[in-house]
Amino acid sequence: MVTMTEEGSSIDPSRPSIARVYDYLLGGKDNYAVDREIGEVFKRDLPGSVAIAFANRAALTRAIGEIATTTGVRQFIDLGSGLPTADNVHQVAQRHAPESRVVYVDIDPQVLIHGRALLEENDRTRVLAADVRDPEAIRTHPDTVELIDFDQPVAVIFSAILHHVNDEEDPAGIVRYWRDHVPSGSYFFVSHFRSGNNPETAEAEKVLQETFGRGRWRTDEEIASLLDGLEILEPGVVPASLWRPDEVDGPWKNGGERELTVWERLIAAGLARKP
Ligand SMILES: C[S@@+](CC[C@H](N)C(=O)[O-])C[C@H]1O[C@@H](n2cnc3c(N)ncnc32)[C@H](O)[C@@H]1O
Repeated sequence: MVTMTEEGSSIDPSRPSIARVYDYLLGGKDNYAVDREIGEVFKRDLPGSVAIAFANRAALTRAIGEIATTTGVRQFIDLGSGLPTADNVHQVAQRHAPESRVVYVDIDPQVLIHGRALLEENDRTRVLAADVRDPEAIRTHPDTVELIDFDQPVAVIFSAILHHVNDEEDPAGIVRYWRDHVPSGSYFFVSHFRSGNNPETAEAEKVLQETFGRGRWRTDEEIASLLDGLEILEPGVVPASLWRPDEVDGPWKNGGERELTVWERLIAAGLARKP
């Protein structure tokens, strides 16, 4: 059965959705049989998919925590935010800085329904159903305008979303749009499938393209070039698990240094600042 949302977009449980497959990999319950089937293909052909998803979320959480505690930025736009999960951007930011405001944006209608229910009680958050490839529509949306003051620095979050934008859809142009419409002192967080030029990434790219018609693994240099005109902060664009690792739970646990698994190397993260 196809369910219509208030906005008239449809949720079709017979077709897989990126948001729901990702939810399944993270151990969530907001997915259908068709999503679990694709999730299982990923787990079989790319057994580290779950590790990639968790390494990504952990880096995102650390980056939001850093922005909230070490900068004065109190407004966040989370593009391709996904279904609500354990620690969402507004929860992390508001834990450190309760006045933080967050606009969530996702193309998946299910995100809108769940997000609205979750955020009903929180007047410092909004959830929009919009396409990241149309940044102007997002920036000028009444909910965005109501919550975000574009005269003040903003944190723009591209967490595990730009690899769902194919080259011909100009991912660099999307980042450039936001760069040009936020003030100096704004932050950009990016996490992105990281090409290892190995059979694992080639296979994963094939599964994603066949299933969703999108999914691009990029090298660190290609990911860094998406942040053109921004100052990429330490330690650069690196495997997500190495991005400012947590001293207690990070790979350097117990003072030891360990090799990252091949899977942990397949997702990169970076934080940049508009000079
Ligand atoms: C892998 S999930 C990432 C979720 C979250 N940002 C994170 O890092 O945990 C990718 C999300 O991007 C959304 N998405 C894909 N293409 C999109 C588009 N063109 N516009 C907006 N959202 C999109 C999907 O619906 C999905 O929820």
